[in-house]
Amino acid sequence: MAKIGSIDVGEFPLLLAPMEDVSDPPFRALCKEQGADVVYTEFISSEGLIRDAAKSTMKLDIYEKERPVGIQIFGANLDSMLKSVEIVEKSNPDIIDINFGCPVKKVVSKGAGAGILKDIDLMVSLSEAMVKHTDLPITVKTRLGWDHDSIKIVEVAERLQDVGIKAISIHGRTRAQMYKGEADWGPIAEVKNNPRMHIPVFGNGDVDTPEMAKKMRDEYGLDGAMIGRASIGYPWFFKEVKHFFETGEHLPPPSIEERVKAARRHLEMSIDWKGEKLGVFETRRHYTNYFKGIPHFKEYRMKMVTSDDAADVFAAFDEVEEKFSGYQFA
Ligand SMILES: Cc1cc2nc3c(=O)[nH]c(=O)nc-3n(C[C@H](O)[C@H](O)[C@H](O)COP(=O)(O)O)c2cc1C
Repeated sequence: MAKIGSIDVGEFPLLLAPMEDVSDPPFRALCKEQGADVVYTEFISSEGLIRDAAKSTMKLDIYEKERPVGIQIFGANLDSMLKSVEIVEKSNPDIIDINFGCPVKKVVSKGAGAGILKDIDLMVSLSEAMVKHTDLPITVKTRLGWDHDSIKIVEVAERLQDVGIKAISIHGRTRAQMYKGEADWGPIAEVKNNPRMHIPVFGNGDVDTPEMAKKMRDEYGLDGAMIGRASIGYPWFFKEVKHFFETGEHLPPPSIEERVKAARRHLEMSIDWKGEKLGVFETRRHYTNYFKGIPHFKEYRMKMVTSDDAADVFAAFDEVEEKFSGYQFA
């Protein structure tokens, strides 16, 4: 049974990865309904938070029904990170996660995200200060290292554990790899096999079939799988993995009715959360994924993504449900 601090997250939990512009409250709630055991917000800038940038503070919203939920923050300045911890605490999350893995230039160039992999002492001291600053469990998400020649993740994970980090999620790529090549879970297993490690070690990167999740559990011996891209437009992935674990069999893909239902719920929750205008606008990017595989879908997709009026989008969902009833997804 894995535990993050005192939070019981079950046997081999499936975690929804933090994903910018994807892991918002409606999407997290859908994933939770479909079996995600822990969900994370997208990364939130500590500098943005302390400036009270509206866009950053809105990202702190959480629904009760998604718990346990972690809020992820990034930054490299001690003061800003500590102040952010205080701001984040007011949203009452279950976990605060530190992003030490984002590879994008604008983050890395400020020494944040994966940039901190060049300064492990700072990574450890920042973590320690944050742990001491709150009673909430602090977790870390990171990569294997800065580049192939600087992979010291076994030592890094142990040092993070020693300063009080309560779980670590490791993406099996270096910063230099960005998202290229295959994720290498070998070094993550080395972290787990370190006899001094006792906090959960979650694997991340390329888990896109139930078989891959099983491999991470059975062959690599990790404590849970963090899932990102496979869940985008496909929150059913969590349920499919769990079903496979229990039965060794694959669930059939969701029907058109289930897909329309999810799209409808996503839009309803988005409107509840941020009002009709933004709700309609920001949910658009998800529809292609929900209906992936349906031939000649463009006409319907256009109806969903061009109107500012929620009623038109709901009408397009009804039309799709009727038109493609019985469609067999591969
Ligand atoms: C669209 C997108 C946005 C992401 N945003 C974040 C983020 O905000 N914080 C973070 O730690 N990782 C972020 N990531 C990385 C993922 O959390 C994850 O580590 C990566 O996608 C590998 O896992 P996967 O193969 O299951 O997708 C993002 C990835 C994608 C595809």
